[in-house]
Amino acid sequence: MQEPQTVKAHDLTFELMISQKEIQTKVEAMGEDLRKKYQGKNPLFLGVLNGSFVFTADLVRAFETTCEVSFIKLSSYSGLESTGEVATVIGLTAEVEDRHIIVVEDIIDTGKTMHDFLPTLKKMNPASVAFATFLLKPDAIKYDFPIEYIGFEIPNKFVVGYGMDYNEQGRNLRGIYQLK
Ligand code: IMP
Ligand code: MG
Repeated sequence: MQEPQTVKAHDLTFELMISQKEIQTKVEAMGEDLRKKYQGKNPLFLGVLNGSFVFTADLVRAFETTCEVSFIKLSSYSGLESTGEVATVIGLTAEVEDRHIIVVEDIIDTGKTMHDFLPTLKKMNPASVAFATFLLKPDAIKYDFPIEYIGFEIPNKFVVGYGMDYNEQGRNLRGIYQLK
């Protein structure tokens, strides 16, 4: 099937911003970068649900070498806007102590979700923590912390696809689509 140029989610129309092909090329490159640093260290990829389930699946396969994968669920979003409150919905069950942790995010917008989660993670005494985000909105970021691996920097536009949703729709789109 040809990649659609526009899609609908609920009442809104979105247009193609990043194609499936561009995504594949980028994620392969990110996997390779991570491999250079983490090969032989059995890192724990910690995907942040729900949005990062697609990116995490592709990233760990692009990483290729030995690793472990787990997921947590945090939430600060409802509809098109961040609510400003971060709640832990599903906690961390994997062993974090003395492990190299790579937190995998679909998108970092204001940065609040990850900034608030970082102290919780550090209390568990990991050997190291790094962030890998598929998208970053540089104009929206309000919290300062190092983000080691970034797929694409995008304008401050609401997007869906590749795991990301508008009120739960759009997660299964192969490309990234921006609000028209
Ligand atoms: P932050 O706490 O403001 O950085 O928001 C991070 C979370 O909000 C991301 O992990 C996404 O789940 C969600 N989010 C932020 N921007 C968008 C967007 O443009 N589309 C869909 N979800 C988004
Ligand atoms: Mg997310």
